[in-house]
Amino acid sequence: MGQFLIGQGSEGRPFSIDPSSLTKHSIVFGATGSGKTVLCKNIIESASISGIPVLAIDPKGDIGCLAIRSLDFSFRPFSDIEAKLLGKSPEKYSKELAAEYHDKFQASGHEEDDLKRLVDRTDVRIYTPRSNSGLPVSMSPRLTPPKAFSKNMAEEPSLALDLLELKASNLLRLAGYGENSRVERSLITQILEEEWKNGRELTLENMIELVTSPPFDKLGMLPLDEAIGRRERTELSRRLNVLVTDAGAKAWFIGEPPDFDRWFRKAQGKTPICVVDLRTIPGEEGKQVFVEYLLQELFYWLTRQEGTQTLQYLLYFDEIHGYCPPVREPPSKKILMHLIHVSRAFGLGIVMATQNPVDVDYKVISNANFRFIGNLSTRQDIERVKTGLSLGPEAFEVISGLRTRQFYYQVFDRGESGIVAPGWLMSYHRGPLEPGEVKRLKAGTIPARIQVRVLPMAVPDEELLREAERKRAKRGILGGAEEKAELAKTLYLPFLDFTYQYSMRKGLLSKQTVLNKGRSVLLALREVEFGFEPSLLELAPQLVEAELESGSMVPGVDSTTLVQERLDELKHLLSEYDEQVEGLREKKGSRSKEDPAKATLKDHIDHLEEARSSRWRMFADGLKLPSKTDPNTLEVLHGSLFYIPYFIVKLSRGGESRFLVWDRRGKENEIIADELMKNRKFRELAESRLAGKTE
Ligand SMILES: Nc1ncnc2c1ncn2[C@@H]1O[C@H](COP(=O)(O)OP(=O)(O)O)[C@@H](O)[C@H]1O
Ligand SMILES: [Mg+2]
Repeated sequence: MGQFLIGQGSEGRPFSIDPSSLTKHSIVFGATGSGKTVLCKNIIESASISGIPVLAIDPKGDIGCLAIRSLDFSFRPFSDIEAKLLGKSPEKYSKELAAEYHDKFQASGHEEDDLKRLVDRTDVRIYTPRSNSGLPVSMSPRLTPPKAFSKNMAEEPSLALDLLELKASNLLRLAGYGENSRVERSLITQILEEEWKNGRELTLENMIELVTSPPFDKLGMLPLDEAIGRRERTELSRRLNVLVTDAGAKAWFIGEPPDFDRWFRKAQGKTPICVVDLRTIPGEEGKQVFVEYLLQELFYWLTRQEGTQTLQYLLYFDEIHGYCPPVREPPSKKILMHLIHVSRAFGLGIVMATQNPVDVDYKVISNANFRFIGNLSTRQDIERVKTGLSLGPEAFEVISGLRTRQFYYQVFDRGESGIVAPGWLMSYHRGPLEPGEVKRLKAGTIPARIQVRVLPMAVPDEELLREAERKRAKRGILGGAEEKAELAKTLYLPFLDFTYQYSMRKGLLSKQTVLNKGRSVLLALREVEFGFEPSLLELAPQLVEAELESGSMVPGVDSTTLVQERLDELKHLLSEYDEQVEGLREKKGSRSKEDPAKATLKDHIDHLEEARSSRWRMFADGLKLPSKTDPNTLEVLHGSLFYIPYFIVKLSRGGESRFLVWDRRGKENEIIADELMKNRKFRELAESRLAGKTE
């Protein structure tokens, strides 16, 4: 993993940070508008394009904008709100923005590919507790035992006890109990411990019963009834019961609980950026409880991962004030401090931002390796920062001279300090997303009409529909007249026209290397793999620019990442074959000539080599490469997307259905029809377009 570029340092030099030093945490201070969020988002953009999954806690709703990005920096319709505020036409404003982002990107020090990586290889998901506007995430108190609980209890009792305490506190908090409900907490903790030790699953309903009649008759040293009276127990179970019955409480259980195995997993080669938008939770108290719960789940999950020194994940908490204040102990504080302590050993980096050091507990600051101080509005604020961070008198000068988007930084472990200006973001940075926009982003940011290169349809739809009707009446595979055409539409599928190069040695004696170039086409959908189709290149002269309704096309991957992924996969596979063969050769070498096992080993080797070469041939033939080409010299260069229309009819009768597909010249295409029947993901993609559902 390379360095993370986050802006410009002195004399405009690129300013990068070492990923592993991020596990020692970072904190950013500055007045509103000083550029804190921009600085942190620079870290997030750089980390995610390097493959580091991110969890971002977003109290204000402006982190979700990381989802708004495009290869040509056009951000409509999301830029229309700003356009309106500025009294400009949406088109004009969008063009101006694109020009600004383009220029700033060129000057940023980012590689051209970084933007592509952000757009194609990261995936921003906005989670909204208690709401369906984004991806709903629930707080169902999972009372199932953490993995290997008994083992942990034996080997690392303090960690196991922490887990117990935290779970009990969170449950009580949900039920409306405060920090000083100690007896209730011991009761819940003991019930949990009893059940977890025995590996028993526990639901909220079970817990309610167990509270009324616990499976033990002593709590600590005292008889149960003396430690916690019946009346208190009834009250506790009553309050827990409300969680199961009350509508307001039930809203916590909308959606799935956070599952970091899934949240942090790369899906389809894309690194996830999970943004949790806290605005859907009413009231400070509720936000607190949710953050506590979310961080607890993260803590459980993290402590089950293998230890490591290198950065594996990032947690970004914006506007953290109120969540770990210096004196009070709100629910979120304890777990946050816990996370800060253990996360380094598990490769979790934590990035926090707030206005002033007085907003956070001193331990948070003293545990942060990177400290960034931005523009502050009053002299008083500057004094506070100076005291809070024990800065020398010269720092006062520096900090008072800072402009917007300029930060004084300290890297604690290296004794370094200086000034950094966070870079211009590749994603669209603007004010908080509106609920409708969150919804829209969830559905995918496909504008209504898109300008693309297409092959025109040569046969009118009506003719093909008549053809389909004839077929239906004649063949009626699903049962003649009762069968009906449920959906029928021309759908444009994406293809990628890409170039590649590879080197070949010419002549055994001269050993001169020559560079060859080639071109091919591939269906640009992750869901479908039809292989390479160089023959489609002949159609290139017929391509025209057209404006398509997004509902009539299946958008493809507009870069060579798909080809690259397949090539990487293949290389990996080939090297596995090589390793196996190598191992067998060694074994074979150590056997004597007479040993019958030698012949078996030879057969095995031959078989593997044959399989290896046929694997490679399948790929190489598709690209028309000479079979001697070394896959390691193959380089994928440029790609450009175009669309080909297919007329697709879905016939149904009862629960059964089948697809008929015609190509643009009116010829039936069974390959695509078959794929639609067999490949569920592809079918769902196509059907949602056929049914006109784009959002
Ligand atoms: N794409 C972008 N990249 C970097 N800075 C931006 C971008 N878009 C707007 N800005 C600037 O970011 C500033 C707002 O910074 P922000 O990080 O939101 O402040 P805060 O400190 O309140 O979090 C504004 O001055 C604005 O000019
Ligand atoms: Mg901000």
